[in-house]
Amino acid sequence: MSTLITNIKQLVQVHEHNTTILKGSEMKTLPVLENAYLYIVNDTIIEYGAMEDCDGIDAETVIDATGRIVLPSWCDSHTHIVYAGDRTSEFVDRINGLSYEDISNKGGGILNSAKVLQETSEEDLFEQSLKRLNQLIAMGTGAVEIKTGYGLTVEAELKMLRVIKRLKQESLATIIPTLLAAHAIPNAYKSKKQDYIKLITEELIPQAAALNITHFVDVFCEKGYFDIKDTEAILEAGNKYHLRPKIHVNQFNILGGIALGVKHKALSVDHLEEINDEDIEALKGSETIPVALPGCSYFLSISYTQARKIIDAGLPLAIATDYNPGSSPSGNMNFIVSAACVKLKMTPEEAINAATINGAYAMGISNMYGSITRGKKANIIITKPMNHYSEIPYAFAHDPVEHVIINGQLLK
Ligand code: NIG
Ligand code: FE
Repeated sequence: MSTLITNIKQLVQVHEHNTTILKGSEMKTLPVLENAYLYIVNDTIIEYGAMEDCDGIDAETVIDATGRIVLPSWCDSHTHIVYAGDRTSEFVDRINGLSYEDISNKGGGILNSAKVLQETSEEDLFEQSLKRLNQLIAMGTGAVEIKTGYGLTVEAELKMLRVIKRLKQESLATIIPTLLAAHAIPNAYKSKKQDYIKLITEELIPQAAALNITHFVDVFCEKGYFDIKDTEAILEAGNKYHLRPKIHVNQFNILGGIALGVKHKALSVDHLEEINDEDIEALKGSETIPVALPGCSYFLSISYTQARKIIDAGLPLAIATDYNPGSSPSGNMNFIVSAACVKLKMTPEEAINAATINGAYAMGISNMYGSITRGKKANIIITKPMNHYSEIPYAFAHDPVEHVIINGQLLK
C-alpha cells in the first residue's frame, strides 16, 4: 500500500533527524516545507521533499493537496474517553452556581460516573467509547492516551482496561492505556481511605500488570482525593511493576506533587492550573514533561496553566484535551491548540509543537510519532483549503480537517 500526497502548500513539522522533544525556545520554531510532496508506504513515512523532486514516484493512491496544509496528526496525551453516560445535569448545576468541588462533595462528580460505569455492560461501554474515539480521530487525533479511573473497584477497573485493550485492537489509532485507580475515594472507603490504597497497591496494580496492557500509573493528587503520602505509596507500588507515573497534579491546589513526580521519574505531570517557582525548579533538568489541559480550565472556569512561565523557563510543554465527562467533555485537539494560543499565550508554532512532538513525548512514543520524519509512522492530517497553518488556531471551533491518514490508511 503506497500513498503520495502532492502539491502540499505547507508540509508542517518536518524534521530531518528524529526529534523527540522540544524545550523552551526550541518550541518557537515549526519547520515547514512549501510546495512539497509526502510519500507513504504501508504505515511509514518514506520520503518528502520539494514538488519539483517528486517526478518518478509511483503510488497506488495519489492525493492532490493543492492549497492545503499537511501536518502530523494530533497526539492527545491525556484523556478519559472510556466512560458511561454523561454529566449534563452537573453541567447545569454548575451554571446555576455550584462549584466542581460542591458537586463532588454531594457525591456527584467522579463517583457519579463510577456508579454508572459499574452498572454498564462491557459491550455497551466499549460501544460508547468507540464512538468517542472515532469522533476524535475524525478531528485529527492519531495517537491517544486513555485512562481508567471510573471503575474504582478491582472488577470495574479491569473491565475498563479490557475495553481499552479492545479499542487498541479494533482501531487504527495508537492507544496508550494508563491505570488511574486512584482517581477518587469510593463511598465504601470514605472513612478508611488507607484500605482503598491497599486495594490499589496490593491487588489492582499486580492484577493490572499481569494483564500486560498498561505501562503507566496515574493518581489524582489533590485535596480531598489523594495527598502526597498516598500518591507516593501508589507510585512506589507501580514502580515495582514497572508502571511509570503520569499524574494529575496542581489542578486546584499545590501539594508538592510536581517534585514528587520528578522524584519518581514521572513521564508527565498534568493539569498545573496552579504552579509556583518551586514547581518550575523541580522540573528543570528532569525527563518529566508538564502537560496543560486548557479544555478543563475553559469548562470549569478555573485558571489556565501559565504556559509562558513554563516555556520561558526553558521547559518543554505538551497540551492535551483531558476529554472526560466531568471537567472537559470534548476531544477536539483543534480547539485545544486554539485555546493554547488565545488563553495560554502560546504562539501557533508553540501550540502545534505542544500538540504533536511534545504530546507524543508525554505518551512515550515520540520516536515513532509527532513529526514528519523518514521512518516515523504515517499519522497525518490534510486540512481544508487554507493559506497558513496559523489558521488552525485562528479560526477557533471550526473544523480544519479534510482528511486523516492513520498508520498509513486514509480514513476521512
Ligand atoms: O482530569 N481531575 C481529575 N480527573 C479528571 C476529571 C474527572 C471527572 O470530573 O470526571 C480531570 O479533570
Ligand atoms: Fe484528567
